[in-house]
Amino acid sequence: VTEPAPAIEYRCTGDLPTEALLHLYRANGWSAAEKPTELTAALRHSHSVVTAWDGDLLVGLANAISDGHLVVYYPHLLVLPEYRGRGIGSRLLGLLQEPYAGVHQQVILSDRQAVGFYQKHGFVPAGSTQALWIYAGSDHD
Ligand SMILES: CC(C)(COP(=O)(O)OP(=O)(O)OC[C@H]1O[C@@H](n2cnc3c(N)ncnc32)[C@H](O)[C@@H]1OP(=O)(O)O)[C@@H](O)C(=O)NCCC(=O)NCCS
Repeated sequence: VTEPAPAIEYRCTGDLPTEALLHLYRANGWSAAEKPTELTAALRHSHSVVTAWDGDLLVGLANAISDGHLVVYYPHLLVLPEYRGRGIGSRLLGLLQEPYAGVHQQVILSDRQAVGFYQKHGFVPAGSTQALWIYAGSDHD
């Protein structure tokens, strides 16, 4: 008899073990993994963080930076490669957006390959704006 797969558990806390974070960020090839101290602090100081867990394994994460009233930015959304396509990214985004339902402007700087994912969730190209940055990483090219 096959046991049913245990459910993914979702939590809202920014206080996260560095090793779990590094595993998730490295699996996605994101350069924030090269700055463990800053990454741990950045999530602790985010306006909101939502995480997805399979037992003790951190399988997904999303965070928000916001003034709490007018504008919210969603800097990070990532799911472990072997856990993608199971609705985890959608659930993380939905939970993250809940407190910002009435906010004037919700902004994402999306990787090109994820644009379709965000469009499925109601995001549209940002008018005639052009994304600009000063960036120390060489990922997200
Ligand atoms: C983008 C990402 C977070 C999606 O997470 P996920 O758990 O695989 O997404 P879901 O299973 O919830 O997918 C929901 C829907 O979006 C679609 N989708 C998922 N990734 C997509 C993509 N990159 N482009 C277009 N559609 C996508 C799925 O097919 C699914 O469609 P359906 O509802 O019609 O079946 C995940 O692929 C990821 O971590 N990618 C690498 C990091 C990244 O690119 N993050 C975003 C950049 S800022």
